[in-house]
Amino acid sequence: MRLGVPKESRAGERRVALIPDTVESLAAKGLEVVIEPGAGAASGHPDEQYTEAGATVGDPWGADIVLCVDPPSVEQIGRIGRGTVLIGFLAPLTAVDTTKALATGGVTSFAVEAIPRITRAQAMDALSSQANVAGYAATLLAAREAGRFFPMMTTAAGTVSPARVMVLGAGVAGLQAIATAKRLGAVVSGFDIRRAAWEQIRSLGGRPLELDFIPDAEDESGYARPLTEEENEQVREALAENAGRQDVIITTAQIPGRPAPILITAAGVRNMAPGSVIVDLAGDSGGNCELTRAGETVVEGGVKVIAPANPASDLAAHASQLYAKNLENFIALITSEEGDLALDFDDEVVAGACLTHDGEIRNERARSLVEGSG
Ligand code: NAI
Repeated sequence: MRLGVPKESRAGERRVALIPDTVESLAAKGLEVVIEPGAGAASGHPDEQYTEAGATVGDPWGADIVLCVDPPSVEQIGRIGRGTVLIGFLAPLTAVDTTKALATGGVTSFAVEAIPRITRAQAMDALSSQANVAGYAATLLAAREAGRFFPMMTTAAGTVSPARVMVLGAGVAGLQAIATAKRLGAVVSGFDIRRAAWEQIRSLGGRPLELDFIPDAEDESGYARPLTEEENEQVREALAENAGRQDVIITTAQIPGRPAPILITAAGVRNMAPGSVIVDLAGDSGGNCELTRAGETVVEGGVKVIAPANPASDLAAHASQLYAKNLENFIALITSEEGDLALDFDDEVVAGACLTHDGEIRNERARSLVEGSG
């Protein structure tokens, strides 16, 4: 069976779906890999590394399984054969045209975002591996832009106090941001509306901001439920006041399939000292700061509000390494020991990740989104 790895086409995307090491271990399992010329170049892997690992360089779209990072364009989907498998970030809750094209084209597609977050599937959890990279990247970006040291520094020219960093949303990205800011020596606090996150913040050396007038907002799936407008207002007020004491705020709060909650208002930004920095990782879903503009930097009263477009791509080498391993593990789940396709839709991971199959949209939320779009 042949696996195809296209060169990613999203502007600024540097990641690649497989790295040479994974090509080698897939080849050992009898799987051939076809890589589009230059697909790995931006993540530090020239074509020769792939050919040395056993891949061939050529047209990836005719393979039996196509592996991508970002959703392919509708035109690219048109090049995937009926019955062919596609695996990647396919944005099932937002990219209506992608889902439609996949269903119409008879592609069997798996959206890595929809892989159930159960223990058995942790090694395939691409949402977590990339959020982890994004949390790290966001902290380095904030440190670079803040114009100040993160650690306390005692020098012959005087002592500087450590940076104060607050992280909003303590899921995978937020916890990595807390850990990274802490490693750099900042005084770190964190906030989440899931109470379970408070202990996790503490375990990384951060101080949880315990806004206990908000009841635990974790739903049965482990995600946060949307707050009521009144609760949101209370949170925003508390955070606006707190923002005035921070040099850096990193925001990561998301509710799957919904616009991100606004946590820092324009008034909150105005409370911060000139030179302070906000890095908003929720920019693509509307942002956690009222002033955020996705992919841009907005400066208000000397405060920079930065919403990086694709922070995981900034660390393309390790982001690709982890993603490739996630895919390798998922491929193992859908292939037999002989290396043939073996789709078991009774498996909750396979069924949960499946977006389209046999012309049908299998993901319920994606289907209602497509139906609602007319
Ligand atoms: P996410 O990217 O959907 O959201 C990030 C964080 O924002 C979450 O912690 C969420 O609680 C928080 N948030 C949402 N609204 C907020 C608000 N108004 N104010 C403050 N914070 C707010 O979350 P992520 O990182 O994908 O993780 C979601 C859940 O999944 C967590 O409970 C995490 O522990 C769990 N998880 C489980 C895994 C497993 O068992 N295999 C793997 C990864 C995550």
